[in-house]
Amino acid sequence: MNAVYEKLQQCYESMQEKTDFKPLVAIVLGSGLGDYAEEIQIETVVDYRDLPGFPVSTVEGHKGRFIFGYIEKVPVVIMQGRVHYYEGYDMTDVVLPIRLMKMMGAKALILTNAAGGVNDEFDAGDFMMITDQISTFVPSPLIGPNLEKLGERFCDMTGIYNDRFQDVLLKAARKLNIDLKEGIYVQLSGPNFESPQEIKMCRILGADAVGMSTACEAVAAKHMGMKICGISCITNPGAGITMKPLSHEEVQETADKAAPQFKALIHAAVTGIAEL
Ligand code: 6GU
Repeated sequence: MNAVYEKLQQCYESMQEKTDFKPLVAIVLGSGLGDYAEEIQIETVVDYRDLPGFPVSTVEGHKGRFIFGYIEKVPVVIMQGRVHYYEGYDMTDVVLPIRLMKMMGAKALILTNAAGGVNDEFDAGDFMMITDQISTFVPSPLIGPNLEKLGERFCDMTGIYNDRFQDVLLKAARKLNIDLKEGIYVQLSGPNFESPQEIKMCRILGADAVGMSTACEAVAAKHMGMKICGISCITNPGAGITMKPLSHEEVQETADKAAPQFKALIHAAVTGIAEL
């Protein structure tokens, strides 16, 4: 068997020994947004480190566990922490958690992240619903033998971010009085933030927000036929927009401040998606 699939299967079997919880919606919480997971009706928690072969994050502020539980009767799995390509993991390891959640039963995926603003009309603390993405600056997680059990070799990337899910988010935001922006997310490898010229490049390419995660996860999820939506918390303007140097602390701080609104939005998204 293929080594990538074997590792996934091993993680799945190890998970089955710990819980038979069947999530409907999978949620990935980005930097500074992870606390939300502790506010749901928790059924079981599984630490990433207790799953043999599972990638564990090295970044400060990134926890590493799955929280299984209910948001208003909707069974969900929440990833509190994710690993990034810049940590040195292979792309197949970076997306292993997404594949695992699908194998457990999740049909819908809500991706979140902290991102830099490329669109100069965005302010720190804004939320942006991702309408499409540019993932080509990092290797595709689908490189290597195709995992036929998961999806097709040449899979289509039209409508990665599900139209109906986007409607749910927009409606929820309106109800909550959140000025939800919309735009294109571009993933760069990191770990360094971009140079001012790289931010300009992103803008020329049509991107509105830039980050170091998410797009590769969306590719792997789309490959498996998951329905996806994504929200970026714009934690700071990209380099060159203001003269202020960028820092991980600023990213964390802004994400922390935005957390209450963010939680309300995720909550409404989950219940809205479950009703579709
Ligand atoms: Cl400015 N760039 C990237 N790549 N990721 C970020 C960011 C910037 N701000 C928060 N996350």
